[in-house]
Amino acid sequence: MPQRLLIKNALLVNEGDILPGDLLIDKGRIARIDREIAASDSDRILDAGGLHVMPGMIDDQVHFREPGLTHKGDIGSESRAAVAGGITSFMEMPNTLPPTVTLDALEDKYRIAERSAHANYAFYLGATNDNLDVVRALDPKSAAGIKVFMGASTGNMLVDDETVLRGIFRDARVPITTHCESTPMIQKNLAAALDRYGENIPVTEHPVIRNAEVCYASSSMAVALAREAGAQLHVLHLTTEREMELFEPGPVEGKSITAEVCVHHLIFSADDYASMGNRIKCNPAVKSAADRDALRLALREGRIDIIATDHAPHTREEKASDNYLTAPAGLPLVQEALPAALELYHDDMLSLPGVVERTAHNPAVRFSVGDRGFLREGYYADLVVVDLSRPTEPSAKRVLSRCGWSPFEGRALRSSIVTTLVNGVPAWQDGKVCEHDAAMRLRFDR
Ligand code: DOR
Repeated sequence: MPQRLLIKNALLVNEGDILPGDLLIDKGRIARIDREIAASDSDRILDAGGLHVMPGMIDDQVHFREPGLTHKGDIGSESRAAVAGGITSFMEMPNTLPPTVTLDALEDKYRIAERSAHANYAFYLGATNDNLDVVRALDPKSAAGIKVFMGASTGNMLVDDETVLRGIFRDARVPITTHCESTPMIQKNLAAALDRYGENIPVTEHPVIRNAEVCYASSSMAVALAREAGAQLHVLHLTTEREMELFEPGPVEGKSITAEVCVHHLIFSADDYASMGNRIKCNPAVKSAADRDALRLALREGRIDIIATDHAPHTREEKASDNYLTAPAGLPLVQEALPAALELYHDDMLSLPGVVERTAHNPAVRFSVGDRGFLREGYYADLVVVDLSRPTEPSAKRVLSRCGWSPFEGRALRSSIVTTLVNGVPAWQDGKVCEHDAAMRLRFDR
């Protein structure tokens, strides 16, 4: 491996600016950023040819299925797909088998990732109705955060004991991330749908069963609990216009309550159920086009701070089911992550630095990730070279995720990832995953 890699002729997108320049990497870190750096200072040159270079995406919400559900994906397979999508670090969710609800299970995942991850990694500790002692014992540096399913989804991890919820919000020393949907309200709506349709509920009922009221009841409760306890709360995958009033616009720095939106909720709308069927079934549900547009606006206002994927692979066969009741919820998204987020740039909803802020800077700040998420001298060289005028054309043949399909098949995205560097080492180049062992455990400075 060359010690010093020089990226030349780049448009560097970082911290509000787009500046032409060169960037020198030495031993995995950014050694120098300058208008021009002499080739003689390096061992190898990567000519960016005038393309944009930006910090890689830090995806704060993925489900990589290992251990226990590896027919859908594992940390190796899904992180290979992730680097193809411009992700250089991921934070992985606890609804595996066994679920990550003990400190041993958490460390087991780090051990697996150490030998197989293609991007930098961290894991969440899952909360349950009876592991408050584990939440309290967690070393704040050893997990991305606590995941609380305040609504039931894939896996059996619902936390609905209010005393326990108050305990988590009072005692957690890491960001609390929540899945917010009211399970009792979902059950009531589902019963009504069963009365009306019998077992043949059409998937178009998904956003009716898991509607805006279901989301608001739960997310407003999470926000109230966090305010009461002064807790650090990050509400995951928001989907409705109604919930936007719960969050303050403005920069992420200094906020205790932050919000996330996922790429599929920014792109798909209820109008797509007709053509996509159960393939876009996910929790929370994809809602109306008006909700999608409100999410885009909230992102622009800084009411929503972070763009993530909620990559949730289920196999092509599992998702091909035309039975709404048994089709699993969740979509594979990491392989198109950054190109999907960049659609907002092409739609004039966000500037290019605005996309970078919400995919790299803000997750780094929100989770106190050490030395990543920015193009800064001394920081790790987690970078992507992006071509904004060459489209990504997702197809079944191109899929790297073990689940074997992409919700974007047949739907081109307007940008593509030319190169992804993880700690200065190529992880994706010229349309191919590069084998490497440079991925590292994320460090949390908290
Ligand atoms: O649609 C979803 N799928 N939402 C979740 O919260 C979980 C995820 C999964 O793990 O399949």
